[in-house]
Amino acid sequence: MEARRRNKLTIVGAGAVGSSLAYAALMRGVARNVVLYDVNGSKARAEALDLEHGSEFMPTARVEGSNDPEITRNSDVVVITAGAKQKPGESRMDLAASTVELMKKVIPPMVERSPEALFLMVTNPVDVTTYAALKISGLPRNQLFGSGTVLDSARLRVLVAQHCGVAIGNVHAYICGEHGDSEIPLWSSATIGGVPLLKWELQTGRLGESVRDDMADRVVNAAYEVIAGKGATNYGIGVSGTRIIEAMFNDEHRVLPVSSLLEGWHGISDVCMSVPTIVDRLGVGMTLEMPLQDGELGCMHDSAEVIRSTLRRIGF
Ligand code: 2OP
Repeated sequence: MEARRRNKLTIVGAGAVGSSLAYAALMRGVARNVVLYDVNGSKARAEALDLEHGSEFMPTARVEGSNDPEITRNSDVVVITAGAKQKPGESRMDLAASTVELMKKVIPPMVERSPEALFLMVTNPVDVTTYAALKISGLPRNQLFGSGTVLDSARLRVLVAQHCGVAIGNVHAYICGEHGDSEIPLWSSATIGGVPLLKWELQTGRLGESVRDDMADRVVNAAYEVIAGKGATNYGIGVSGTRIIEAMFNDEHRVLPVSSLLEGWHGISDVCMSVPTIVDRLGVGMTLEMPLQDGELGCMHDSAEVIRSTLRRIGF
C-alpha cells in the first residue's frame, strides 16, 4: 500500500449494521471521510444527514450518503454490510445463497472504483461471503477479509471478565472457526492477566468445565437472543467492525480473529474462517498458530467443513 494516510471509509449498506458502523467509526475518529452507499438513496442520505447533525460532538470528519456508486470512488477501506437480515430462528447459513447472489452485483462496481482499497466483509454468513467475494473480485488474500469472530470473542471476553471480576482488557480468549453455530472457544490458549485460563480454574475453582460450556453456549446463541428481542444485532458489530477498520487505518499490526483465506493453518486450507491474524495497513497478514488441544483442532476442521459444504451447495 502507498505511504499516504488512508482516510476514506465507504460503508456499503445503510441498514442497522451499516449505520451503526458509521456512527461508531465517526465517534472513534477512524476516518476523515465516511461514505454510506445504499441502493436506497433516501435511506443513505437520511442516515448520513442524521450523523452529520452530530458532527460538532465528534472528531472532525465529513459524512455523505448516496445511491450513486461514484460516491465510493478512491476509498481506502470498503466495508460490505448489505444483505438480508436473519429472521428470528433463521441461522446465518440460511442466508448464503441469496447473499452470494447479491455479492455478485455489489462487489465488482466497488472494486472497479477503488481497486487499491482494503475490503472488509461483514454480511452474513460472513465466512461464506468472504470466500465468495474473494473469488468474485479476484483480489489477493490480504486485501479482502471478513469481520469473522471478533465480535464473538468480545462476547466471550465479557462473560469471562464478569465471571472472574477482572477487566475485559485482561482477558485474552478467542472464539475461532465459523462466525456461526460451529464456532469454537479455544480455551487451551486463553489467559487472564497472563495466567492460563485452565489454570485459573485450578487456582480458584471458578471456571470449571460446566461454567465454560455455559459461556460457549451463550456466545453461540448471543445473536439469536438479540434478534429475538429486537430484530437485528447492530451495536456490537458496529463497534467491533470499527475496531478492525482502525487496525487498518492506523497500521496497528493488531492480532484479531478475522476471517481470512487460510493457507495451511494447522493443516487447514482453502476456506475463509477466523483464527488470530495480524491486521495492518496491508489488510490481513500472518495467521498465528497457537498450540491447540486435540479436540480443539478436530472442531476447527469440522467448522471448516461446515463452511465448505455450504459453499459447495451454492456452487463454489
Ligand atoms: C452477530 O453475531 C448477527 O452476525 C451477527 O451479531
